[in-house]
Amino acid sequence: MKNKCDKRLRLFARPKTTLTLSPSEHDMLVTEEYGDLVDLESGCWSAVLGHSKYTLQEAIRDLKYPVHTHQFFDCPHFDKLVQRLTDSAKLPVPYCAAFLSSGTEAVSLCVMLTELLTSRHKCLSLTISYLGAACGLRMPRDPEKWTDINPADCFHCPMEKHCDHCTKFQSIDFSSYASFVLEPGNSGGLLLFPPNKLIKFIATRIKAAGGMLIMNEVTTGIGRTGKFFGYQHYEEFCQPDLCPDFIAMGKNLGNGYPISGVLVASRYQSQLEKSGFRYVQSHSDDPLGTIVALKTLTAIAQQNLVAQAERKGELLRMQLNDSPFIKEFRGKGLMNGIILQPNIHAENVYEELLKEGFFTGFSENYNLIRIYAPLSTTEDTLITFCHIFLRILKEQGKSS
Ligand SMILES: Cc1ncc(COP(=O)(O)O)c(C=O)c1O
Repeated sequence: MKNKCDKRLRLFARPKTTLTLSPSEHDMLVTEEYGDLVDLESGCWSAVLGHSKYTLQEAIRDLKYPVHTHQFFDCPHFDKLVQRLTDSAKLPVPYCAAFLSSGTEAVSLCVMLTELLTSRHKCLSLTISYLGAACGLRMPRDPEKWTDINPADCFHCPMEKHCDHCTKFQSIDFSSYASFVLEPGNSGGLLLFPPNKLIKFIATRIKAAGGMLIMNEVTTGIGRTGKFFGYQHYEEFCQPDLCPDFIAMGKNLGNGYPISGVLVASRYQSQLEKSGFRYVQSHSDDPLGTIVALKTLTAIAQQNLVAQAERKGELLRMQLNDSPFIKEFRGKGLMNGIILQPNIHAENVYEELLKEGFFTGFSENYNLIRIYAPLSTTEDTLITFCHIFLRILKEQGKSS
């Protein structure tokens, strides 16, 4: 493996192939090794509208404010953005917000604020939930602070069995927790969507015991799963009495520009502001970030991309469902993982796809190909991808 950038500290698992980016226009990634690539992975990271830079270019072109300001300055785009988020997601109660830079920071701020509001320091989550890269959030989380419930057997639990009677919860004192932090779709692993019964049980118990609900929508938010927020697949959370107290957002909010955000139910605004707790960082509520986010949300709404994500996800599943080389297809909307049969290796498929002009994610651990296409990816592109993908699977299956 010969990489161009020897001075780059790569703290991630690397494939055997190298990818060197050339100047790229429009939606394509141009690479020295494989030429033009359609990026079907970028939605996992940030590019909800693909790599076309128009939201950022337009924002800079139209920017009549400084890129960045001190937190004492209000900028009119701020309230517009909060309103746009609330309207786009059809949230049943009002929210206020803070905008930051990374998803990790958004989740971390939510956790801190729930601690402040409840005067409790413990948090509940699931072992399958990725919450961020910072030391307080990444796995293994500090067991003094975090109780991470392993939901593995909950996926097969019979409906008639009530969580109240499950040994998993017998040692849990719900009244000692500040919050339940839920990642509504397990973005980093096998794309598990935690069962309704389990989630409703934990959320109801936490709320009844004075704790709060944090939805980590860093990956699942802004349309990725075919709903504006991933948690909206759980109907209970769409009702005013069980809707989230906090919603952490990131990634797709800026379509590649690093803006993240925290929506906080407005009923806490006054208490938080008067508490004396102070939290600012260099890019809090920057004009450029909020304007880029507004442009991104406008483009999503104008092209009806959230509803399309649901349809495009169904299209993918329909095209690929019957392949004998696929062990399981997991996903919602355009957040999809394809687990391959053990005789086919995900990295080989990933490499063959590169040769055909498609960049996907893959995991060797789970033998999985990840399709997190930008919401703007056309149905024709997805159909072309499916044909090529099925052919590659067949060839790989024959040669194994
Ligand atoms: C579910 C989830 N939460 C939090 C984060 C952290 O976001 P960031 O990488 O922007 O800090 C990620 C990033 O992958 C994520 O997928």
